[in-house]
Amino acid sequence: MTEEPFHTIIEPFRIHSVEPMRLTTRAQRVSALAAVGYNLFELPADDVLIDLLTDSGTGAMSAEQWASIQRGNEAYAGAPSFYRFRDAVTGLFPFAHVLPTHQGRAAEKILFTAAGGPGLIVPNNTHFDTTRANVEFTGAQAVDLPIAEGLQPAARHPFKGNMDVAALDHLLTERADSVPLVMLTVTNNSGGGQPVSMANVRAVSDVCRKFGKPLFLDACRIAENAWFIRTREPGYADVPVADIVREMAGLADGMTMSAKKDPLANIGGWLALNDENLAERCRNLEILTEGFPTYGGLAGRDLEAIAQGLREAVDHDYLRYRVRSVEYLGAALEQAGVPVVVPFGGHAVFIDARALLPHIEPLAYPGQALACALYAEGGVRTCEIGTVMFGLHPDGTETPAPMDLVRLAIPRRTYTQSHIDYVIEVATRVAARADDLPGMRIVSQPRQLRHFTARFAPES
Ligand code: F0G
Repeated sequence: MTEEPFHTIIEPFRIHSVEPMRLTTRAQRVSALAAVGYNLFELPADDVLIDLLTDSGTGAMSAEQWASIQRGNEAYAGAPSFYRFRDAVTGLFPFAHVLPTHQGRAAEKILFTAAGGPGLIVPNNTHFDTTRANVEFTGAQAVDLPIAEGLQPAARHPFKGNMDVAALDHLLTERADSVPLVMLTVTNNSGGGQPVSMANVRAVSDVCRKFGKPLFLDACRIAENAWFIRTREPGYADVPVADIVREMAGLADGMTMSAKKDPLANIGGWLALNDENLAERCRNLEILTEGFPTYGGLAGRDLEAIAQGLREAVDHDYLRYRVRSVEYLGAALEQAGVPVVVPFGGHAVFIDARALLPHIEPLAYPGQALACALYAEGGVRTCEIGTVMFGLHPDGTETPAPMDLVRLAIPRRTYTQSHIDYVIEVATRVAARADDLPGMRIVSQPRQLRHFTARFAPES
């Protein structure tokens, strides 16, 4: 499609079936919050109006995906659905071995069970929470090496997801024997949904080759990342996104994937890699928990939905709409004086809660306070990505996370522009009385991944 002169963001789809939403009153929402200990993960989704908790598995499937579900073949071994899935994956990611899994973290669990272990170190631009937990569960250390700009919410840099290549080189120079593999998360979810440039992927890949270390992509949002490369990195303006994805994959030795993100499916994932020996060990682990390697915890119909979703994920009209609609939300919040991470990421807008609520100390969880206020105000569910998520360490100590953000993740092809206008109105109203919001304290928590089940109370 050539660029049209219109400014209106056109959703490149019509609505085919609708899902009613339930309206609630403020009083109902305030009591719902208290009932779940101010943990938004514990809320029944029917009590939520606009659900921006995650973009994971929450997208709308296309008519072609639903049609492909009818082609699902449920043979235990060697189903044609597996081969269609594998061909769609290797068409974009030409790795030798593809192991389907029920979702991304299952791929992480298998990979790090095979490659992690006590005393080892896994560097990443920024680990996502499940990736970090899976690394740490094996006794290994998860080290984040983002560039400096990646930790400054207001710093404008086209590729804030980049890894600090000098820091990686330094770590490998000192500790190469302890590093089983290097990971790059594209886009960098925990760091604001920020993209990694092709130049950075190449530089990281070069350092890995120098030290003989495999590079794995955490590729959940690689299509959005590739769109940013196409629109921001010199030399890529005319390169199709599918080719950019293939070029990124070509610089790596393997990948983990959650098909619940860019592949536009409601469930699924995979681990793909070139190394024969590692693949063999991973396949044996997969059989223990996920299932036979041609279905890996998924129904044949899920494999079909992923295969079709992958084709749609790299469509330029879709990606243009996707990135522009996220930018629309971010720009409106910025204009309303709400501090947001800039530039805007691919799948979400991140509010800088620490900047909006300077009267709340990081250990009184400004992100959690803001997320609760957004829900109470308008039934908008968001997700804290800050000290609640990352502040508690395996040794039981607690420190402030580098940033306290609240993520407004946009499910794919699900909400219309008027839904987003409503979110802007809600967030603007909350920001106007930010000074009155109380901090939170934790009443109970587990030792790992506490954000899912911890209970909170407002500070009086
Ligand atoms: N890696 C990244 C970068 C992710 O964002 C996620 C999930 C995973 C791995 C794990 O994939 O959920 O299929 O097991 N992120 C979701 C989110 C949950 O809300 O950002 P999964």
